[in-house]
Amino acid sequence: MKNVRIGNSNWETSAIALGIMRMADLSADQATKAIEAAHDNGINFIDSADIYGMGKSEEVFAQGLKNSSLNRDDFYIQSKGGIINNPDGKLANFEAGKRYDFSKKHIVESVDGILQRLNIDYLDSFLLHRPDTLMDPEEIAKAFDELQTTGKVRHFGVSNFNPEQYQMVQEAVDQKLLINQLQFGIMHTGMIDFGIHTNMSDDRSVDHDGGILEFSRRKGVTIQAWSPFQYGFFEGVFINNDKFPELNSKLEELAKKYNVGKNAIATAWILRHPANIQVILGTMNPDHIADSAQGGDVQLTNQEWYDVYFAAGNDLP
Ligand SMILES: NC(=O)c1ccc[n+]([C@@H]2O[C@H](COP(=O)([O-])OP(=O)(O)OC[C@H]3O[C@@H](n4cnc5c(N)ncnc54)[C@H](OP(=O)(O)O)[C@@H]3O)[C@@H](O)[C@H]2O)c1
Repeated sequence: MKNVRIGNSNWETSAIALGIMRMADLSADQATKAIEAAHDNGINFIDSADIYGMGKSEEVFAQGLKNSSLNRDDFYIQSKGGIINNPDGKLANFEAGKRYDFSKKHIVESVDGILQRLNIDYLDSFLLHRPDTLMDPEEIAKAFDELQTTGKVRHFGVSNFNPEQYQMVQEAVDQKLLINQLQFGIMHTGMIDFGIHTNMSDDRSVDHDGGILEFSRRKGVTIQAWSPFQYGFFEGVFINNDKFPELNSKLEELAKKYNVGKNAIATAWILRHPANIQVILGTMNPDHIADSAQGGDVQLTNQEWYDVYFAAGNDLP
């Protein structure tokens, strides 16, 4: 498994991470198996968020880790906060309402809840989950200072931010924002397409993200690719999906060549980009975790990278 340097810091972690958004549905025993499969295959980074399973994912993870042969120090643990999704107020441990909220009070309380559910003393990193248009960057600065000085959070970052939003918060906080978590994968390539189609008038020339890929490379920000195997916004998985015959046949061909499975080629494709991207897996299946992690050892050629891009339905002007 290759490593990535997180942002422009000296912090290095596995290039592939395990996200626990889907862990809420697992038994503690199944969670233990997923956690051990990740560790056995070189993954040392966990991604969570306070709202995954409305807290349940973090509780199941804590139980799964406790029952495993591993402990907290075997992993870097990241979580996210800033989304309130408790419209009818029925969830006693979550604030009532439905909004994004980057107030100091909410950010600090979010981290406290995360640490409690995960049963740990600190987070290796904490991300602001989705940009709150009502955000006051000074409030965020106060929250980050408190979380850092109390030792509850070691590193900070954002998620689904465009460059201007990133820059606005970065100018207000003392901590370097090392991470921006964004959807990216073979079937979600907007941040690449628009650069390739610059100065054209076709759909792919539209810049939806403000040049976030190039911005992140210039600023030393690690992009964490979420939903690496999904097409659309949670529409489904493209691997072994009859809707994508050309792509699956290309993945199959490369999987044979490198003696791995298709998941590995899909993760290797993301890691092949020189933007220092980290892949956040969502699979909870130990076999799929093992196969996906193998992508951390596969180096696709430039031509293979473009061939996969074409097989996904893309072109070059
Ligand atoms: N920042 C954000 O806004 C944001 C948003 C969404 C997600 N995330 C993070 O990203 C992580 C990954 O998201 P995701 O779960 O959507 O990503 P994903 O890894 O693209 O999708 C996971 C799904 O793909 C299935 N899958 C994987 N390989 C498969 C195969 N070979 N055949 C059939 N099904 C397969 C998994 O099922 P099995 O379990 O059966 O393998 C699972 O249902 C989350 O856990 C979370 O940490 C962040």
